[in-house]
Amino acid sequence: MTEFEPKIIGFLCNWCSYAGADLAGVSRIQYPANIRVIRVMCSGRVDPVIVLEMLANGADGVIVTGCHPGECHYMEGNLQAERKIKMLKKLISRTGLESERLRLEWVSASEGARFAEVIKDFTNQLRNLGASPLAGENPDKTILAGIIAAKAVAGASRLRTLVGRERTLIEEGNVYDEKVGQREFDEVMDGSIDAEYIRNRIHLLVKDKPMSVEGLAKHLGLDPKNVLRHIVVLRQRGLVSLDRIEGEDPLYIALEVS
Ligand code: FES
Repeated sequence: MTEFEPKIIGFLCNWCSYAGADLAGVSRIQYPANIRVIRVMCSGRVDPVIVLEMLANGADGVIVTGCHPGECHYMEGNLQAERKIKMLKKLISRTGLESERLRLEWVSASEGARFAEVIKDFTNQLRNLGASPLAGENPDKTILAGIIAAKAVAGASRLRTLVGRERTLIEEGNVYDEKVGQREFDEVMDGSIDAEYIRNRIHLLVKDKPMSVEGLAKHLGLDPKNVLRHIVVLRQRGLVSLDRIEGEDPLYIALEVS
């Protein structure tokens, strides 16, 4: 039986890892040919939505490589990448897809051998995980729905703002000069990811057909009271409205947003 060969998308920073990959090539250091390389100007420029798009399209793994901390050509781009990937991994884990399918590594221009090692190691890790449930003709519908909701979450301003403000809030403080602890920040981030992910799952479901709170709760495996709280927020945001009452159940529908 032939070994499963994972398809990997690699976002490589132009100033370090891309040169590291080049060095591996010219030094004839062997590494698996599973990676398709996309050169970016900085690891911090990799948009979480694009990463989710790659996974939705059946990539078995995505790796982002950047300059070592303190060596980013744009000062803090790699630290931004680190914060984005941390948020993305949490978001991906909500969908049912393994968050290990996403990886971040630092590789400098002189580390050709390290680049090859990182790719070998990630390829082996993905071989052990097996093919993505989103690859092939029949992707897992539940996980795909989760990834589509995750894309909406990652593309919206709420989490982007939170990720962008992490360093300032922790190191410099908020508008009242109060510093936020890392643990406290992580709790806020986790709560926001959970809430926004569920709201987007609900929004996508009621786009297809009007549904009751009970129906949504059953579909999502959640407490109806929890679903109702999210419906209230979605109505306040103008994303969902009451469609009709069926029996005693109000049915909700998504509104078109221009
Ligand atoms: Fe390489 Fe920013 S320039 S990670």
